[in-house]
Amino acid sequence: MSRKVTKVVFPVAGMGSRFLPATKASPKEMMPIVDKPLIQYAVEEAVGAGMTDMIFITGRNKRAIEDHFDKAYEVESELAARGKVDLLRMVQDVLPKHVNCIYIRQAEPLGLGHAVLCARPVVGDESFGVILADDLIDGEPPIMKQMVDLQEQMQCSVLGVEEIPLAHSMRYGIVDPRPFEKDLDDVVAIVEKPAPEVAPSRIAVVGRYILTPRIFFHLQNLRPGSGGEIQLTDAIQALIGEERVLAYRFKGTRYDCGSKIGYLAATIAFGRKHPEIGEEFERMLAAMPR
Ligand code: G1P
Repeated sequence: MSRKVTKVVFPVAGMGSRFLPATKASPKEMMPIVDKPLIQYAVEEAVGAGMTDMIFITGRNKRAIEDHFDKAYEVESELAARGKVDLLRMVQDVLPKHVNCIYIRQAEPLGLGHAVLCARPVVGDESFGVILADDLIDGEPPIMKQMVDLQEQMQCSVLGVEEIPLAHSMRYGIVDPRPFEKDLDDVVAIVEKPAPEVAPSRIAVVGRYILTPRIFFHLQNLRPGSGGEIQLTDAIQALIGEERVLAYRFKGTRYDCGSKIGYLAATIAFGRKHPEIGEEFERMLAAMPR
């Protein structure tokens, strides 16, 4: 019997230089889309996929993330005293009671692969998820749930992918796909941030992974790759030699909230469908002078 995927890693140690000065003193993962920080969307997606152990790989200036998922005594007693029951519930329900948060500090920014390797002592010998919070994906069921279902069926690593313009290949891990089923390809090879001329396809990995524990073996033996960093992509390439890796074209819309344009697009999309302000926002957008 295979075990269910219950652990998920959130690499959140990055500097967020594309959003300076906003990220000078606070983490980019705490930037809100309407009224929720990016990291909360990511955690909700993992919870929606049935995951229970949230492993955050943090770094300097990331205390706000720990505080966000902790009890906030002052705010809670203040809201209770003022009888603001709905807001109190919202603050208390940031994390369901059955979910654990584990924080591991990545002492040096040695790359995404290194961040994932830091989770090894907690993940152990199980398959696990990885979510990059700045890729915000709006999907129903949540994309991680779609991927967990696939993993349970196929018993191998699964990468969340989408087609991108070839000119953007240098921003992503790009896969060389061999068609398997509708929306599902075998990954024959994967390259980190190739130039368009040498990119094996236009199918890019977008911040969602389910990996077998064998990945740790490869991460541990890697040398620095693209950008002088230990790359998760390079470990996946090594894994392909031994195990099946699938690329899954998920159902949903991705917003690259690591870029200003993607962040603004997400704000508009989530603003429009927000239960409290959606309609008013829509009217405001329509009436907005150019
Ligand atoms: C990382 C990965 C890359 C992946 C991308 C998705 O790159 O290294 O393979 O395609 O996330 O967002 P980063 O955006 O951290 O440079």
